[in-house]
Amino acid sequence: MTSFWPMKVLAPAMLWCCTACVGPQNVLDPASPQNRSINTLFWAMVVVGGTIWIGVSLVAIWAAIRRRPEWGEESSVPPEISRDARGRLTRIVAGATAATVLILLVFLIYDFTVGRALAAHPDRALTIEIIGRQWWWEVRYNDPDPSKIVVDANELHLPAGETVQVKLTSRDVIHSLWIPNVAGKRDLIPGYTSSIYLSPDRPGVYRAQCAEFCGHEHAKMALPVVVHPREQFFAWLEQSRTPAVEPTDTLARRGKRLFLLSNCSKCHAITGVEAFGTVGPNLTHVASRRTIAAGTLPNERANLARWIVDPQKIKPAVRMPPNPLAGSDLEALLAYLETLK
Ligand code: CUA
Repeated sequence: MTSFWPMKVLAPAMLWCCTACVGPQNVLDPASPQNRSINTLFWAMVVVGGTIWIGVSLVAIWAAIRRRPEWGEESSVPPEISRDARGRLTRIVAGATAATVLILLVFLIYDFTVGRALAAHPDRALTIEIIGRQWWWEVRYNDPDPSKIVVDANELHLPAGETVQVKLTSRDVIHSLWIPNVAGKRDLIPGYTSSIYLSPDRPGVYRAQCAEFCGHEHAKMALPVVVHPREQFFAWLEQSRTPAVEPTDTLARRGKRLFLLSNCSKCHAITGVEAFGTVGPNLTHVASRRTIAAGTLPNERANLARWIVDPQKIKPAVRMPPNPLAGSDLEALLAYLETLK
């Protein structure tokens, strides 16, 4: 480690600069043509605005330190400005004003052009419905054939290079979907359905966040967004249409019985099983999700166990009640949930 002190300041700053423009939840790392056009507009504004700011600052500093020997020591009256100098000043001020108006006009037109392009409704490959809940996301992949509708939760899957219409609404309070890499924010309003068109073109796993304060656990209302290559997405969708498979393992079978007889099935649904609850997330493919509790924890056995036993400890005020299960019952339930791929 260097002992040269400026490096102690510069090194973290340089590291920050390198990492600040990339990441799964970063507007500066666009993964869709729409966000790329917003990004170009943003950087154009930063460069032009920054250049003007630096120029104006330099002129202001120069004016402040410039020595004016004829002004002052014995008199507070400014000396006469010559007619020539006055004319030059007028031209400079008029020129600067005209340049400002022109720059603002160019950006206004540029901004309108980008806005119009974003408002276009291109042909869509698929319609997805996202329903905001306190504090999780219900995600439905629509299909004209009702038997092919996929009901999922807390994870959004999208095909790269296709346009998807996402219809948004809420069951309780106003939430807001924001996938910084893919699109701007759009509110989810109770009793009203709005739409947003997403066209991600770079496969990857991104992170969306609820962007409207919606109560106690607003901060723990995230949504992993998985952008698959096109074929992989449709394979995933087809796989998601399959109902839960019957567990073969004895422990998992006991877990399933427990699930159906306990509180679990009152709130959660599993396709293909006698569980039709709609209060909590659908669990048909819960084992395939990356996270639990709406992006709060990685989907690992230990986290799932903690979550089932005392969700209030992880996400206070969440609707799910504690489930004080004994060791072997918990093991059985976990074994069953792990079969739900
Ligand atoms: Cu939902 Cu904030």
